[in-house]
Amino acid sequence: MFEVNRYYSQLPKSYLFSRIAKIVETFEQTHPDARVIRMGIGDVTRPIARAALEGMASAVEDLGRAETFVGYGPEQGHEFLRHAIAENDYRNRGVDIADDEIFISDGAKSDIGNLPDILDTNIRVAVTDPVYPVYIDSNVMSGRGGTLLPDGRWSGIKYMPCREDNDFVPSLPEGKSPDVIYLCYPNNPTGTTLTRSQLKIFVDYARREGALIIFDAAYEAYIVSEDVPHSIYEIDGARECAIEVRSFSKTAGFTGLRLGYTVVPRELTGNDGAHGRVSVHDMWLRRQTTKFNGASYIVQRGAEQLYTPQGRKEVCDTISYYRANASKLRAGIARAGLRCYGGVDSPYVWVKAPAGMTSEEFFGMLLHQCQVVTTPGSGFGPSGEGFVRLTAFSTHELTDEAMQRISRL
Ligand code: MLT
Repeated sequence: MFEVNRYYSQLPKSYLFSRIAKIVETFEQTHPDARVIRMGIGDVTRPIARAALEGMASAVEDLGRAETFVGYGPEQGHEFLRHAIAENDYRNRGVDIADDEIFISDGAKSDIGNLPDILDTNIRVAVTDPVYPVYIDSNVMSGRGGTLLPDGRWSGIKYMPCREDNDFVPSLPEGKSPDVIYLCYPNNPTGTTLTRSQLKIFVDYARREGALIIFDAAYEAYIVSEDVPHSIYEIDGARECAIEVRSFSKTAGFTGLRLGYTVVPRELTGNDGAHGRVSVHDMWLRRQTTKFNGASYIVQRGAEQLYTPQGRKEVCDTISYYRANASKLRAGIARAGLRCYGGVDSPYVWVKAPAGMTSEEFFGMLLHQCQVVTTPGSGFGPSGEGFVRLTAFSTHELTDEAMQRISRL
């Protein structure tokens, strides 16, 4: 019989958010009268910006006329969008990124899942704990996990705990340096941030040790605090050691449309073991041109319009809407006599379970007694035990309602 990738069998049976979706589905089937409020997976509720809809409508017309028809686009994205991103998200904010360092994709999750393709199998990976599970699962699939230990950690992965006792600020990995460090800031799931000087410690470490930082900045649009960097490239030297991933999901409502991008600076090099230093930019280009045919032209034209004055305003309005929800969540949780973190520069609020309850128990209680869906913190890693995550992506009305139900509990 043919052999399959044996590492898949090591993974937990289902992906975190699929498992929660299944539990909620079963709950709804067995409680048909329940009015369930979803604050589990970070899926958005606001409609897509009108500017983007107009861009897409006109792109549909382009495809219907021979003179404007577009077939395969460049695998790394159309120049019109790469330019708009590099100019608006970086250069206009004083960060030097060239158009051709932007790689458009069908979403940040795809890029995060695909990046391990260009890394050696034997590298050591470090993650913060709790962590967005895709960083770990995709490395386990590539044979870098080692074995799953009884406490939920993988023997081959280094964990940098982020807990109340260190203000959710990870310390540098202990012992031998990892080759790759995943950082997500503003953080998923805790909603906490790193200041410029805290992030600089990681950039300096990565340069000193020859490590790569994969920086997930999917939530940067939610930053309001002055000393929190929007991009890792605001830190000197990051162009030599970091890849940055961003998303249009949580800004423009593209969770269903799918669009994101990854920045790979020209200076970034890695050792391929045979030829010495090789360009990571060239490797990613090679990977994408072989395995990806580019994101949809229609969706890219939609995203282009987000950089017009009308598009910017609409995105700003959407972010303000969700930010208001995050404030409601923080206030509601405090009213309920519970402690929470995050939700200031982030759409995620990290809620501490009442004393003596595990994440799963608290998740179950909120689902059964309040019909509010959360995500159990332990699903994000051992240091997430004792917490649940709430998202600010619901409507104002349902957010208020969820907080009333929890306060009454
Ligand atoms: C989350 O809930 O953590 C996110 O929605 C996951 C994602 O963006 O893939």
